[in-house]
Amino acid sequence: MTDLNSQKDAALAAIAGADTLEALDAERVAALGKKGWVSLVLKTLGGMTPEERQTAGPAIQAVRAEVADAIDARKATLEAAALEAQLASETLDLTLPAPNLPKGSIHPVSQVMDELAEIFADLGFAVATGPEIEDDWHNFTALNMDESHPARAMHDTFYFPGTAPGDPASSSEAIGQKGREMLLRTHTSPVQIRTMKDIAKANPGGAPVRIIAPGRVYRSDSDATHTPMFHQVEGLVIDEGIHLAHLKWTLETFLKAFFEREDIVLRLRPSYFPFTEPSVEVDVGYANEGGRRVVGGHGDDEGHDWMELLGSGMVNPRVLEMGGFDPEKWQGFAWGLGVDRLAMLKYGMDDLRAFFDGDPRWLAHYGFSPFDQPTLSAGVGARA
Ligand code: DAH
Repeated sequence: MTDLNSQKDAALAAIAGADTLEALDAERVAALGKKGWVSLVLKTLGGMTPEERQTAGPAIQAVRAEVADAIDARKATLEAAALEAQLASETLDLTLPAPNLPKGSIHPVSQVMDELAEIFADLGFAVATGPEIEDDWHNFTALNMDESHPARAMHDTFYFPGTAPGDPASSSEAIGQKGREMLLRTHTSPVQIRTMKDIAKANPGGAPVRIIAPGRVYRSDSDATHTPMFHQVEGLVIDEGIHLAHLKWTLETFLKAFFEREDIVLRLRPSYFPFTEPSVEVDVGYANEGGRRVVGGHGDDEGHDWMELLGSGMVNPRVLEMGGFDPEKWQGFAWGLGVDRLAMLKYGMDDLRAFFDGDPRWLAHYGFSPFDQPTLSAGVGARA
């Protein structure tokens, strides 16, 4: 027993003196390991008489427990010290400047759509949306372009396979219900119909409407100024006693806010769209400044000219009717405008195709800061 006690004292001293986790582990192996002295002493129990074992057993187990506890306690102390040392040596300098991470930017089309939404919100317009995969009825028929209407041919429509009208692969089952041929919408005008129908569902016969509908549209067309996918913003106002002067004022007010200049002059030219009557094409005066078109001024003035900007008109009573509105009670005006073209005019890009190439260098040059939200109070135009 004295032997055991002196072995224990020596071990406890060595444990207390171990100043690294490795040194401590060596002490653990020397005492409690398979061939450690505690394990060897435990083995001697086998050769003892039952009486001897009764006193020696608990004594040896007590030594074992004391040594194991000492190792655990020392281990906790050494680990805490190691953590302290690590914390002391690895302090963070919070005054260092942050690394210069690459920033994303807002695409000019998104920027212009935000600007449009902001300006029209101020005029009391809500933003409406509709599906890009549209059916023939909403895209054409309800807009007063029935099957035989020649204007359909002008739209270069992308039909879904097996649903195109003249396509021999189109079975009546594939087409399903007449007028349900599926296509990629060729303009945002079907959103007029969807909005009217939604409103008429809640208000039979109709109710006042003031919406813009920005979004993607598709036509089979491609050159420097046409891409198969592009963006339009539709506008629709319906109320009692609405007439063409309301249309002109609204577009003029919008364009002044958008181009941030007062000298916006519009010219309304008679035109034809199946969904409006009368229809007008709206031109805006611009100056040619070093090869760049700068919107503003009277198109007939020296150094100026007119450029066609958008199509519009008074909503055709047949379209009101198809949207579930009573044309005896309600009048409306509508317009459709190319968003990409607006962006090009305001921010000076000259090739539409680059808009959709996804080249980060182009976006770094023409994109906008996500922190620079367009607001009317600060001027909707983004700062460079
Ligand atoms: N949807 C026509 C187009 O894409 C543009 C348009 C013209 C829209 C007149 C209108 C409108 O709402 O009244 O060519």
